[in-house]
Amino acid sequence: MKALVLAGGKGTRLRPLTYTMAKQLVPVANKPVVHYVMHHIAEAGLRDVGVIISPETGDQVRESLAPNPWGFTFTFIVQDRPAGLAHAVKVARDFLEEDPFVMYLGDNLIGQGIGEFVRAFRESGADAAILLKEVADPRMFGVAQLNGSGRVIQLVEKPQDPPSNLALVGVYIFSPAIHQAIDQIEPSWRGELEITDAIQKLLEQGRPVQSFLLQSWWLDCGKKDDLLEANRVVLDEWITREILGEVDEESKIYGRVEVSPGARVEGSTIRGPAIIGEGTRVKGSFIGPFTSIGRGCEITDAVIEHTVILDGAKVIGVSRLEDSVIGRNAVVRKQVTNHGAFRLMIGDDAEALL
Ligand code: DAU
Repeated sequence: MKALVLAGGKGTRLRPLTYTMAKQLVPVANKPVVHYVMHHIAEAGLRDVGVIISPETGDQVRESLAPNPWGFTFTFIVQDRPAGLAHAVKVARDFLEEDPFVMYLGDNLIGQGIGEFVRAFRESGADAAILLKEVADPRMFGVAQLNGSGRVIQLVEKPQDPPSNLALVGVYIFSPAIHQAIDQIEPSWRGELEITDAIQKLLEQGRPVQSFLLQSWWLDCGKKDDLLEANRVVLDEWITREILGEVDEESKIYGRVEVSPGARVEGSTIRGPAIIGEGTRVKGSFIGPFTSIGRGCEITDAVIEHTVILDGAKVIGVSRLEDSVIGRNAVVRKQVTNHGAFRLMIGDDAEALL
């Protein structure tokens, strides 16, 4: 079985960050989202991995995956425009050959591995398997309708009037039958070839489509609040206490905090769960729970909580920064006496004087 990871697309919902960065590379607990995806694929025992990339951000994605700790054989496939998930499968046709495959959206993060899902599909002889999760507002997802005995009877993409609250999670498994189904669909109202429509075709042809309810949490990291929530959940569940950098005697570190090699904490208090990246300097500051600070950052005289700070950013003299996302090499600095709390979303290289 092969794996196809979708790391193309436009990422309009995470702007301004995604003006300069592929949305699949936005870090959650200091690790790009797509690396969690790769970890799940490796855990499931798959090794032959195709990655859909866009002409704009493809090089960044390649570079980020180049260390390849998973031991994969990667095939990078350029999709010239984001014409839909089913279009991405079409573009990957030569790579996929006649093999079954897992398709995993590169901006989806789930709290459990996919090994069991893959095993169940292999045993079932189905042509497609989908993962479903109950959500409060299904209108922004693909939605499944099940019959009384739990079989999928209908799938619709982003319906105005959802037939259920079961959303399609961005992990799918297909037999090669999906290619003929894709050949029979037309672009949707949003001009995309929808994988949801292709699976609906399989259903109409009476082909077996399996569905599973995802037990763990699921986050689609495409928006600021979702990204902060993903950061919160991942820090909460997966971070352990690991002090590899320098912490001076005046500093206090409480709970599960990762201080990466080469980081320095001086006269500061850090309350976990939190992570401080390599080479970052934290001075005279309070870093509160659910904060991820990237590599090579400078945090001075600041109070920060529930925030994601990307590599190379500086936060200086800010009385309170919370629920914020700060882009790479951005600078946030206090200019006048101001004791308020700030909630910011700042792109790469920006400078904010508060
Ligand atoms: O997140 C789950 C949802 O993902 C499902 O519930 C929907 O049924 C499915 O259509 C999809 O909806 P989105 O509108 O959220 O998909 P998005 O455009 O954000 O793309 C998902 C990922 O695939 C993202 O990492 C970008 C990548 N992509 C997207 C398109 C449209 C590509 O690589 N190529 C593309 O052409």
